[in-house]
Amino acid sequence: ELICTKQDNPLVIGLGDGENFIASDIPAIIARTRRTYILNDGEMAVVKKDSITITNRKGELVTKKVFEVNWNAEAAEKGGFEHFMLKEIHEQPKAVRDTMSQRIAKDGKSIVMDELKWTADYLNNFNKIYIVACGTAYHAGLVGKFYIEKLARIPVEVDVASEFRYRDPIVDENTLLIVVSQSGETSDTLAALKESKRRGAKTLALTNVVGSSIAREADQVLYTWAGPEIAVASTKAYTTQLILFFMLSLYMSEIRGTQTKERIAELVGLLQKVPAQISETLSDVEPIKTFAKQYGFNEDVFYIGRSLDYDVALEGALKLKEVSYIHAEAYAAGELKHGTLALIVEGVPVIALATQKSVYEKTLSNIKEVKARDAVVIGIAAEGDDELEKYVDHVMKVPETDELLIPILTVVPLQLLAYYAAITRGCDVDKPRNLAKSVTVE
Ligand code: G6P
Repeated sequence: ELICTKQDNPLVIGLGDGENFIASDIPAIIARTRRTYILNDGEMAVVKKDSITITNRKGELVTKKVFEVNWNAEAAEKGGFEHFMLKEIHEQPKAVRDTMSQRIAKDGKSIVMDELKWTADYLNNFNKIYIVACGTAYHAGLVGKFYIEKLARIPVEVDVASEFRYRDPIVDENTLLIVVSQSGETSDTLAALKESKRRGAKTLALTNVVGSSIAREADQVLYTWAGPEIAVASTKAYTTQLILFFMLSLYMSEIRGTQTKERIAELVGLLQKVPAQISETLSDVEPIKTFAKQYGFNEDVFYIGRSLDYDVALEGALKLKEVSYIHAEAYAAGELKHGTLALIVEGVPVIALATQKSVYEKTLSNIKEVKARDAVVIGIAAEGDDELEKYVDHVMKVPETDELLIPILTVVPLQLLAYYAAITRGCDVDKPRNLAKSVTVE
């Protein structure tokens, strides 16, 4: 007889045949059953091999609906890849396709979000949007801010959940709070969500896990449908979150009339090309392996970029830190001269993202600044850019698209670089030291 109770952290009961299970997450039991009960805070269960009794705080019996997991054990296995991280990087074309599916109008010219059914009145009620998240999801939120402000023209503030929840933010019924969380269980993000609801905000969750605490707590949910992400370092969750933010921003812009129908149709058309473009980026990993071998033993690596390139640089640097333990810093290229340039000396690798046309010349001049200090510069550019290679040591190219969508492509070589750098250094890629996949405690 097992007795368990749930408070704040997740708890799942697996329903087997002549056997039952308790676990903190579905992948632990998926090989044995896909039928589960998900406990709520304050509930207690007495689990025997052929019976489960669930009661609430008052001791009253609770009747639960069986939650059927819609993915199987195979999805939680490596499927021929050496690591989950590599498998998940390669799953991205499919994952982003799944995120898009059912959310593009039949004529392919606009976005449908049946989950939301927002109106202009509903949106005009908000004078501010907050995006709150942790880690990689926070980095996706930075891109989300850019999309919403650029396309839907509503001011957005992005914050890390552990800061937001303690800083007495100005949140009321005119605030829309968007939380982003792959697992849907991150303790700080959940607390920020609960606190904002208490203050009257409307809430929307972008998450990957159906039935997760964040999905259940938020007023509305958009699922990324990326499939289970097992590796600690998040990859396909990030790209699918970007896709979702992009679609949400287009959806909002249509409702608010902030973009023309033609512009929306153009962007939806380009969006649909992204899965194939990711596949193209993944088709030749050899140069990235070579860079990883060449620079995998450097102690410091810098990432620079402007605008959306800067947001992706932050994610690229985080990936490298997480899995290869190399000290990596991302800087807004224009900030370099305010301090960090002092660290750029001969041979220091600098990864320079230069895909944003609106700030291209500015980025180029920052690249020249680091080159003048003899840094080794690896540039990331869009196909068709023949300029960058004149100023850097190596160039990696990604397919050409609108500069809003290109982050979803530029992050891919950075994920691969982090992965192969970790392999070169013999690190345990899927389980980096000191880190956990789901941070359900503060
Ligand atoms: C942990 C993971 C990160 C993840 C972060 C937020 O730190 O190691 O990969 O980005 O939590 O997780 P969430 O599930 O909320 O997106």
